[in-house]
Amino acid sequence: MSAGLPAFYRDPVLYDLIHAEGTGDEVWLLDLLAQRHGNGGKTALEPACGTGRYLAGLLRRGWTVTGYDLSSEMVKFARARLSHRGKRALVVRGDMTSFRPKGRYDLAFNLLSTFRHLLTDREALGHLRATAEALSPGGIFVLGLDLAVYGEDMPDEEVWTARSGVKHVMMTIPATARGRRERIINFVERGGKVAESSYDLRSYDAAEMSALLARSPFRLEACYGYDGRPAELGGPERALWLVLKVRQPPASELRRSSRARTRREKPR
Ligand SMILES: C[S@@+](CC[C@H](N)C(=O)[O-])C[C@H]1O[C@@H](n2cnc3c(N)ncnc32)[C@H](O)[C@@H]1O
Repeated sequence: MSAGLPAFYRDPVLYDLIHAEGTGDEVWLLDLLAQRHGNGGKTALEPACGTGRYLAGLLRRGWTVTGYDLSSEMVKFARARLSHRGKRALVVRGDMTSFRPKGRYDLAFNLLSTFRHLLTDREALGHLRATAEALSPGGIFVLGLDLAVYGEDMPDEEVWTARSGVKHVMMTIPATARGRRERIINFVERGGKVAESSYDLRSYDAAEMSALLARSPFRLEACYGYDGRPAELGGPERALWLVLKVRQPPASELRRSSRARTRREKPR
C-alpha cells in the first residue's frame, strides 16, 4: 500500500529531522483552538499522522490520541514513538479516502496541505464525510492548507537547513485552474547523499474550497493564519487553518426525523 506514496513518506526519521522545528507551536495552537471552538473534550484524531509528532505533543498536554496513516513505515515509527503511553495512544494503518476510525473524537486535524494529497472531489468528500462521522457532538476538525491563486502563483523554490543539518529544497510548480495539480519536487541532502521525491497536490482556490465545504457535512466555524491570527477564507492570507464543525440539519428535517423516530418507537 505504501508503494504509491512519495519516497519521502517511507523514511520517517528523515521526515522528522526536517519537520521537527515549529511542531510545539502548532500543538499549542491546536490545543488553544480546541479550547476556543470545541466541546471541552480531550480525545484527538489525526488522519495521515505521519511520524506522530503532533500526537506526541498533544499527549503531553493531556489528550488521548489516535492516528492513522497509509505508509506502513510511518505507522511503525509513530507506534514506537507513542508506545510508552499505553491506552492513551493508538496508531493504525488507514487510507484517508475511506478509513472510518472506531470511536468518537473531540478534535480531528489534518495539517500541512496533507488533505491535498486527495486528488479528486470524490476522495476529498469521502475524507470529509468519514471525519465528520468520527467527531463527537460539538467537536472540531482543523484543516490546514495553502490555497491557490490561479494566474498569480509563480514557480517557487524554498531552501532551508534544519537544526539537524539536513538540507531541504522544495520546488513548486503552480497549478492551473483547469488542471488543479500543483507539482512538488523535494530534494533532501543528508550526509552528502541527495534524495528526490516528487508528487502532485490538488489545488483549491478560496471559491473551490468554499464549494467543496458546501457539499460536505461541515460548515466553516472560524479561520486562522498559520501563526494563529484570525483570517478569512477569501482574504489575503493564503496559508490557512480552517476550523470546521458538522453542520446541523435544518430544523424542519430534525422535526421530520424525530416524528419518524416517535412513530417507530410506539408499541405495536
Ligand atoms: C505531509 S505528511 C504529514 C504527516 C503529519 N500529519 C505531519 O504533519 O507531520 C503527509 C502524510 O500523509 C500520508 N498519506 C498520504 N496519502 C495518504 C492517504 N491517502 N491516506 C492516509 N495517509 C496518507 C503520508 O504517508 C504522510 O505520512
